[in-house]
Amino acid sequence: MTRETQNLIPRIYQAPMEGVIDHHVRALLSAIGGIDICVTEFVRVTHTRLPRRVFQRLCPELDAGAETPAGVPVRLQLLGGNPEAMAVNAARAVAAGAKAIDLNFGCPAKSVNNSDGGACLLQSPHRVEAIVGAVRSAVPAEIPVTAKIRLGYQDRSSYMDNARAAENGGASELAVHARSKVDGYRPPAYWEYIGEIREALAIPVVANGDIWTVEEFRRCRAVTGCDAFMFGRSLLARPDLPLQIRAFCAGEAYEPMTWQQVAAVLWDYYCTTREEYPAKYLGNRIKQWLAYLKLGYPEAQRFFEEIKRHREAAPIEAAFARQLSGTSDTIAA
Ligand SMILES: Cc1cc2nc3c(=O)[nH]c(=O)nc-3n(C[C@H](O)[C@H](O)[C@H](O)COP(=O)(O)O)c2cc1C
Repeated sequence: MTRETQNLIPRIYQAPMEGVIDHHVRALLSAIGGIDICVTEFVRVTHTRLPRRVFQRLCPELDAGAETPAGVPVRLQLLGGNPEAMAVNAARAVAAGAKAIDLNFGCPAKSVNNSDGGACLLQSPHRVEAIVGAVRSAVPAEIPVTAKIRLGYQDRSSYMDNARAAENGGASELAVHARSKVDGYRPPAYWEYIGEIREALAIPVVANGDIWTVEEFRRCRAVTGCDAFMFGRSLLARPDLPLQIRAFCAGEAYEPMTWQQVAAVLWDYYCTTREEYPAKYLGNRIKQWLAYLKLGYPEAQRFFEEIKRHREAAPIEAAFARQLSGTSDTIAA
């Protein structure tokens, strides 16, 4: 099961996170560095032909060569259960500027599964194959069509059937979140299944799920034998995890980002988004990111406590000022 990949620099992917990793976050994370590929939140496809603005809203990078300002390629993710509608809308996404299409077969949300999209499709591998195949046929050959699956729906027994279905449909790469839909986000992630899929498939397999630290990356690589890895919540908890991993693989010393450096990134996010959301939601996105950051930085928990009840700019910005100047602890004490 294991494969000697020691010292190889892996390919590193930002995992799509609906409602959390928007284009601003992609810009910030990719500017920090170490990420090879970003993936958008999913665009929900039903029976309609989506207008260009829908793709642009979730992926403004389409107007900039489908790359983040730091030059990292962004894949547009589609979610839906109807092959024809997926094909038509994939072609429209490409016409709107998409350079790669990713297909979501992993979303566990009830509302999504009830409307025939996401992980529920894993109950019927032939549907996964039909959707991938239809999209593959609808877009030019130079546009990669990739897929992202979980290990199954009710249980993990369909992992290989679905992985093969994605490959047979013509996916050029498969990301595997190592859990079933019913597993939700509960630890552990079952990396060993990814290793089996990697061995069975000819296309590259991207390992995903619960890779929170360099040490967990090392173990996941040993278990899966993969050379591509996808990071979601862990990237928000440790925004320089890709750089930490690259340094580890290159055998180079690396000093992880300090809390103050991370707080400066958050401030940047706050400043670029403060006009974007209605005033009553001011600070919500920052609080959301802090919920992940506190897993990597204890200071994030304290910052969260300071701002959690505030919705007005003044106290939030004053709290930011204390974080940025490094005086927060003194004031809190
Ligand atoms: C809030 C949230 C939103 C997510 N949105 C998407 C999505 O839009 N598309 C998708 O394929 N996966 C989505 N995922 C799943 C992640 O991409 C990833 O597979 C999962 O979080 C496991 O990876 P991690 O342990 O590195 O976070 C989402 C996960 C979370 C927690």
